[in-house]
Amino acid sequence: MFRTNTCGELRLSDAGKDVTLAGWVQRVRKMGGMTFVDLRDRYGITQIVFNNELDAKLNEAANHLGREFVIQAKGKVSERTSKNPNMPTGDIEILATELNVLNPSEVPPFTIEDDTDGGDDIRMRYRYLDLRRNPVRRNLELRHRMTMEVRRYLDSKGFLEIETPMLVGSTPEGARDFVVPSRMNQGQFYALPQSPQTLKQLLMVSGMDRYFQIVKCFRDEDLRADRQPEFTQIDCEMSFIEQNDVIELFEGMAKHLFKEIRGIELTEPFIRMPWADAMKYYGSDKPDLRFDMRFVELMDILKGHGFSVFDNAAYIGGICAKGAASYTRKQLDALTEYVKRPQIGAKGMVYARVEADGNVKSSVDKFYSQEVLQEMRKAMGAEPGDLILILSGDDVMKTRKQLCELRLEMGRQLGLRDKNKFACLWVVDFPMFEWSDEEQRLMAMHHPFTHPKDEDIALLDTDPAAVRADAYDMVINGVEVGGGSIRIHDSALQAKMFEILGFTPEKAQEQFGFLMNAFKFGAPPHGGLAYGLDRWVSLFAGLDSIRDCIAFPKNNSGRDVMLDAPAALDQKQLDELSLAVVIPEEKA
Ligand code: AMO
Repeated sequence: MFRTNTCGELRLSDAGKDVTLAGWVQRVRKMGGMTFVDLRDRYGITQIVFNNELDAKLNEAANHLGREFVIQAKGKVSERTSKNPNMPTGDIEILATELNVLNPSEVPPFTIEDDTDGGDDIRMRYRYLDLRRNPVRRNLELRHRMTMEVRRYLDSKGFLEIETPMLVGSTPEGARDFVVPSRMNQGQFYALPQSPQTLKQLLMVSGMDRYFQIVKCFRDEDLRADRQPEFTQIDCEMSFIEQNDVIELFEGMAKHLFKEIRGIELTEPFIRMPWADAMKYYGSDKPDLRFDMRFVELMDILKGHGFSVFDNAAYIGGICAKGAASYTRKQLDALTEYVKRPQIGAKGMVYARVEADGNVKSSVDKFYSQEVLQEMRKAMGAEPGDLILILSGDDVMKTRKQLCELRLEMGRQLGLRDKNKFACLWVVDFPMFEWSDEEQRLMAMHHPFTHPKDEDIALLDTDPAAVRADAYDMVINGVEVGGGSIRIHDSALQAKMFEILGFTPEKAQEQFGFLMNAFKFGAPPHGGLAYGLDRWVSLFAGLDSIRDCIAFPKNNSGRDVMLDAPAALDQKQLDELSLAVVIPEEKA
């Protein structure tokens, strides 16, 4: 038997037992005639003691152990004289009677401890060592528990877990595809699924009724803290349902996860905020509602007083930061610089402090009388001690997005974005389409299979940009953790949708013929949703990046630095696939 117990298991009540443990040497300390070894495995750390007086040879052997050696130690559990209250096994130690080195180790490139000395790059290169560290391992354990709870919940609701293929055809869903060349079909390519969207709809046509899959999805898009090129969805679809049924079922799943994983009982229904309100009050389709600071439009009050920046603006909006009137000039200048950064792009920022006596002092006092400033104060709901921050611009949406960044930054600075507080909501009634400057055409905001709101269908012919969709996103703490929609199940409406999106009937048939044909054979009304598993885990673990809850993630340039992928192919492989690589000079 390799081991009788794990390294996290033994307690004072086990004193006197003969045990065998196995694991990795975390640390070796020599004190007088004794050697103390911290032995680690996935479950914890146990101290093993080697005593010169009891067995000099054994102590000598222990002296030669290095960090990360894999060893097996036998001995008796005994009560420690100096206990360590910070460790679950801190009351005991093992008095060693036997030591076997199962495998020595080279000195690891960084210390494998909670606070490691290893930088990001080196830890990614040796990710298998990084995974030995508690914080990273804990994230994977959390991920496992969450997927188990997801399966338990969905199984209890009658969902079937069904796998769909990874080698599929290209179906544009907003991002670029990762493609795979086919050797047996020379010159042809598979695409890896951006999501199993069309396949799960086909499963509804098959009568599967309630489907789910915890599934890898692939998207070739620019990476951010909450985006990986391959990530995992909890993908679901249901038949014979309406939007409300989907929302209730998946809100139930969210509440189940909060309760089982975080011990948080959410009793109230989640807010359902129309997309238009989310944009108007928070400048974002994923508002962080852990704090209020909602936008107040100030066009009526501040326009027309001779301040040309505001006079020429298409939008003027403010936020009120409670109790922040104490912000110094230096802090305000830094905030102005913050919103002027190219990523945000505001031209400037106006501020106004509400002083103790109720007077408003602003950075544009010379243009505004105290009366006007008081009117603004009232509109903002600002009280003595509060700080008002105002942005303006000639593009309403752009300015709102800038104000959103400012709001989030103020929330951060004022400590209002506590990672242990959760604000959940649904954003509903998304527009069906959005205009793409790049493509010079309307694009589907969610995807082309989304059902327009019944009451807006008539607008498809006259004013498609005004059509709203039966689409919904779940947002927690400013993170879009999931999204879905009711689908079109009528082939004529689907064809019309493709037409508005600029597909010729031939092109639509070529790309989506399989779906439109399937719809001719009795497609039930259906809809669904996909949660982003990585985002859920990071949220529950309080992580800044989803990378930390993925065993082997990619870096920001989409590389796996451990496997050194992607990499060039051998000429032989290229020949088999009849591929030639031509890199234009500017991309080389
Ligand atoms: P959507 O594109 O909104 O919908 O994706 C669903 C959820 O997946 C997560 N997500 C990501 N997570 C990490 N890295 C990424 N690159 C990434 N992209 C998306 C988000 C998002 O909310 N087929 C539809 C779902 C449906 O309509 O049922 C879809 O894929 O949390």
